[in-house]
Amino acid sequence: MARVELKGVVKRFGKVVAVNHVSLDIGDKEFFSLLGPSGCGKTTVLRIIAGLEFPDEGNVLIDGKVVTHLPPKDRDVAMVFQNYALYPHMSVFDNIAFPLNVRRRELKLTKEDIRKRVIEVAKLLNIEELLKRYPSQLSGGEQQRVALARALVRRPKVWLLDEPLSNLDAKLRVAMRSELKKLQKTLGITTVYVTHDQVEAMGMADRIAVMNKGRVLQVGTPDELYYKPSDTFVATFIGSPPMNIVPCTLEEQSISYTYKVPVEHSGGIIGEGTVTSRFKLKCADVVEIPLAPRYAELLSKSGRDFLLGIRPEYIELTKTKPELEIGVVKSKVEVTEPLGSEIITTVQLGSELIKVKTHPDVKISPGDEVYLKLDLRRALVFDKKTGKLVV
Ligand SMILES: Nc1ncnc2c1ncn2[C@@H]1O[C@H](COP(=O)(O)OP(=O)(O)OP(=O)(O)O)[C@@H](O)[C@H]1O
Ligand SMILES: [Mg+2]
Repeated sequence: MARVELKGVVKRFGKVVAVNHVSLDIGDKEFFSLLGPSGCGKTTVLRIIAGLEFPDEGNVLIDGKVVTHLPPKDRDVAMVFQNYALYPHMSVFDNIAFPLNVRRRELKLTKEDIRKRVIEVAKLLNIEELLKRYPSQLSGGEQQRVALARALVRRPKVWLLDEPLSNLDAKLRVAMRSELKKLQKTLGITTVYVTHDQVEAMGMADRIAVMNKGRVLQVGTPDELYYKPSDTFVATFIGSPPMNIVPCTLEEQSISYTYKVPVEHSGGIIGEGTVTSRFKLKCADVVEIPLAPRYAELLSKSGRDFLLGIRPEYIELTKTKPELEIGVVKSKVEVTEPLGSEIITTVQLGSELIKVKTHPDVKISPGDEVYLKLDLRRALVFDKKTGKLVV
């Protein structure tokens, strides 16, 4: 069992508030990721969990026990650092055995026990053949595995990994991602994984905490973060290319009008079936989206100015005019970026430039006149002032 909790943790370095009232509840056996841009406080949070740094305020609990001021050796956690370093003068075997050798007496281990444990963990990480070599004789990926093995050999309750794949080339990183994920599930070890790479966090973690400027903005499963981001920062930090964010205003008509919601849009902010409303959202001065009364009511409480969020894969690009009226707008292609499996196309939406994902079979070139069909079931509305999700 290893549940890790942070309660109102604050850490200052002089005037810098590196960690600002962070509370987290990481479950036993969970693969939990801390995700955010450089300098947002990820490493500091990890070091606080490890006991390498003590918070100015708040508490850290492991399995319900307060460990806030305990030294690392009394916490049963193992950390793999951002710039992990192997001991160059020691063989791979001795590097992995090191954490056990230094505490041999305390752990009551014989030399044979240690040998067994090193071989066991080397097998897990597929580096059994490398045990006699020295770090300088290993590739980057192999060195990474040795560092991971060294952190696992003590069988810690909690595994803390700080951007462990950042030194690897793109291909190896992708391969190691799925291996690490599998290993974590096999061992059932509570893991906190720090990264600034949203693809890594989304692909590996059970849950993710998105951080910015020392604060946690949202904690959720990859799906929750993707489909219900709590604000525009999370919305644009996750997904590639990021969510399109377009300014819009709430417009009230003097009389109500009735519109029929096409099946394609049913259930979104425009409602379903036959809807009567007085409100519209006007986006980038060109798209008019009628609003179902319940959403109109909700939005009108927050003012007039909003941001419409729509992901690039929820905008369809066609050369012929779609039959739909709602959510369709004429546009011009600015740039195309063919990526093989898809094309990222930059198009005009009124005064804004937005990105659309298109299938490689759709042949389009810069300058082409096209139609955009926004899937309004997937559209989100954020408050312009606070950036917070409204609907
Ligand atoms: N020992 C220290 N002394 C002073 N400032 C520090 C110290 N450690 C971290 N900081 C500052 O605290 C903030 C958070 O740093 P931290 O290393 O936790 O960020 P990070 O999210 O891990 O960034 P990166 O992705 O670049 O590794 C930064 O502004 C950093 O400059
Ligand atoms: Mg860091």
